[in-house]
Amino acid sequence: MSDILTGKVIIVTGAASGIGRAIAIAAAQHGAKAVIVSDVTETPREGGGPTTGEIEALGIATRFVRTDVSKHSEVDALVEVAAEFGGVDIMVCNAGITLRSDGADVAEVDYRRLMSINLDGVLFGAQAAARQMKSQKKPGSIILMASMGGIRGAGMTIAYSTSKGGVVLMAKALADALGPDGIRVNAVCPGAIDTHLLRTTPGIAEAAEGFRRRTPLRRLGKPSEIGDAIVWLGSDLSSYVTGIALFVDGGLLSVI
Ligand SMILES: NC(=O)c1ccc[n+]([C@@H]2O[C@H](COP(=O)([O-])OP(=O)(O)OC[C@H]3O[C@@H](n4cnc5c(N)ncnc54)[C@H](O)[C@@H]3O)[C@@H](O)[C@H]2O)c1
Repeated sequence: MSDILTGKVIIVTGAASGIGRAIAIAAAQHGAKAVIVSDVTETPREGGGPTTGEIEALGIATRFVRTDVSKHSEVDALVEVAAEFGGVDIMVCNAGITLRSDGADVAEVDYRRLMSINLDGVLFGAQAAARQMKSQKKPGSIILMASMGGIRGAGMTIAYSTSKGGVVLMAKALADALGPDGIRVNAVCPGAIDTHLLRTTPGIAEAAEGFRRRTPLRRLGKPSEIGDAIVWLGSDLSSYVTGIALFVDGGLLSVI
């Protein structure tokens, strides 16, 4: 489609399904040098193999790496794989979960599991990527997956909203810390995107039609539309953009 990612090595976590898979494929379509597809298992929904298969079919180097982002050492090992391709240029910390029951009485065990993936896992990914970028003296782009749930609260997603709000401020704080090294850090806040997560999370699934009707563009988003936004944030076309929370939501967060 374009060559705006020429020469860039990208890692995407949670990339065997949904939005992460779409990001990985979009990166390949826009000419990335290598796309590292990572997920906690090779077979969630669409799957790691089919994702790397599509990328290979585009003639782009790729690798599937099994990584649980809540495990610091596994995330470090994931980023090390990028060294084989010359080092990571774009790190997308996308992996995230919702809970089946996430109201005001959310169980501690569920709360901690969600935070370990949605918040700790995002920080571990950003830290590992920044360390490698700095040691190679390379500029880079780190993109953290937040959500409209990190901007607006909802009673049915207490832990989820808390984690995503944390991700938005993590991006801003890391942008300040890493900017002097030429490393940009931004958050992306998708609106209601048509994925397994949206269709199957209790509360959110029932709310999806309401989100669609309230969205100025009157439709759910496609995973590929998040992929396209991330290609821009990863590319040099956004070279003076850091510390933002980019809404990719059909306008939903702009209306009441
Ligand atoms: N779908 C939406 O409407 C929407 C809206 C806003 C934000 N998001 C965010 O986008 C991201 C992707 O969501 P999605 O809709 O594609 O959901 P999804 O469930 O299709 O994808 C999430 C992926 O993360 C992986 N994952 C789960 N736990 C992991 C772990 N411990 N380590 C590594 N990978 C793990 C899953 O295997 C899965 O492949 C999430 O962070 C989500 O919060 C989604």
